[in-house]
Amino acid sequence: MLNFTFKNQTEILFGKGQLSEVSSRLPKQAKVLFLYGGGSIKKNGIYDKVTTALAGADVIEFQGVEPNPEFETLMKAVNIARENDVNFILAVGGGSVIDGAKFVAAAVNFAGDPWDILVKGAAFENPLPIGAVLTLPATGSESNGNSVVNRKETSQKRAFSSETVQPVFAVLDPEFTYSLPPRQVSNGVVDAFVHVIEQYLTYPVNAPLQDRFAEGILQTLVQEGPKALATPEDYDVRANVMWSATMALNGLIGKGVPQDWGTHMIGHELTALHGLDHAVTLAIVLPSLMFVQRDKKQEKILQLGERVFGIQENDKEKAIDLTIKAVQDFFETMQVKTRLSDHNIEKSAIDGLIENLERNGLTALGEHGDIDLAKAREILTLAA
Ligand code: NZQ
Ligand code: ZN
Repeated sequence: MLNFTFKNQTEILFGKGQLSEVSSRLPKQAKVLFLYGGGSIKKNGIYDKVTTALAGADVIEFQGVEPNPEFETLMKAVNIARENDVNFILAVGGGSVIDGAKFVAAAVNFAGDPWDILVKGAAFENPLPIGAVLTLPATGSESNGNSVVNRKETSQKRAFSSETVQPVFAVLDPEFTYSLPPRQVSNGVVDAFVHVIEQYLTYPVNAPLQDRFAEGILQTLVQEGPKALATPEDYDVRANVMWSATMALNGLIGKGVPQDWGTHMIGHELTALHGLDHAVTLAIVLPSLMFVQRDKKQEKILQLGERVFGIQENDKEKAIDLTIKAVQDFFETMQVKTRLSDHNIEKSAIDGLIENLERNGLTALGEHGDIDLAKAREILTLAA
């Protein structure tokens, strides 16, 4: 096992009615920026519930953080936070709103151009504290320090990570997910599945506990994911999916083990250039990445196949093929397509994706740093 430090500062408030706990978690004399997305919370009643939970606090609203949160939009929220001396951000939504809140939190007291936080890893001081009310289980953003921001103007999707912007609390009420459209349910399950894979499907380092954590989350998602589509108002199904997605990327399962993240990095370019949903990009890239990296990942692919998908096959190459197919079939069962052509993206578009990877310095991806531009091209070509 590799050395590690582990701390997760987010207090999880899990279950029905837990939103009522929020007011007791706000700072004294709170001036709250209530940040949310395109308005789904106004249709499903969450907006009213949040307003009730915040009654008595000094609140300024910012509506309009879009999926794949836009830098320009977030800068508007930064200005509002500055003008109103906001001292707390409550993010209500999915990963985009929570990621957006982290960027706003970091940018408010940053003297230079906040884009540098994303492209140059510029250090920032005194970020605002954040609380999250999760409405879409997927990213784990509610209890990690990662933030991914899009900038259409330059066709870039860039990330930063700091525990200083990790939410201090997160409300996880499974009932808040009943109103999700099937597409977002699917996206969430696929994203969480791939988060586990990025931290598990590398090479063995004798970390059986991390392996079992990861396999437990994968098995839960494989079992419960399709049920969330079939019976959307089943509380237990929603609860199990929600907790799985949080556990998939709250830092725990990745401690002491190598991590890949190549699928995510290549996927981000598909969103930046072609606007595909985040999870859709992962479903396209992962099976091909497994195929291209099959020798390096051999032992863990075989373990995944046997323990998560119940594959019994003595011929190793056949077992690897069956495992890749099982992953692909799972994505298709979740109604997420796995090929570029399913989204009318031609092979000729691969050049642009490779150029973007190069421009962003993403030329040595994966747990061995061996996914160079040539390998990335091979992966995308296989996914055509
Ligand atoms: O904008 P609103 O009105 O809120 O609607 C959203 C949005 O249209 C809707 N939605 C959310 N909860 C709902 C709902 N609709 C009905 N009922 C509800 N309860 O769903 C749509 C998608 O929301 P979004 O927040 O974009 O989805 P997701 O949670 O999948 O977040 C994706 C973003 O997170 C980033 C991705 O790159 C992408 O930008 N990621 C963040 C990570 C992190 N912070 O650790 C890791 C991930 O790998 C990922 O990169
Ligand atoms: Zn993801």
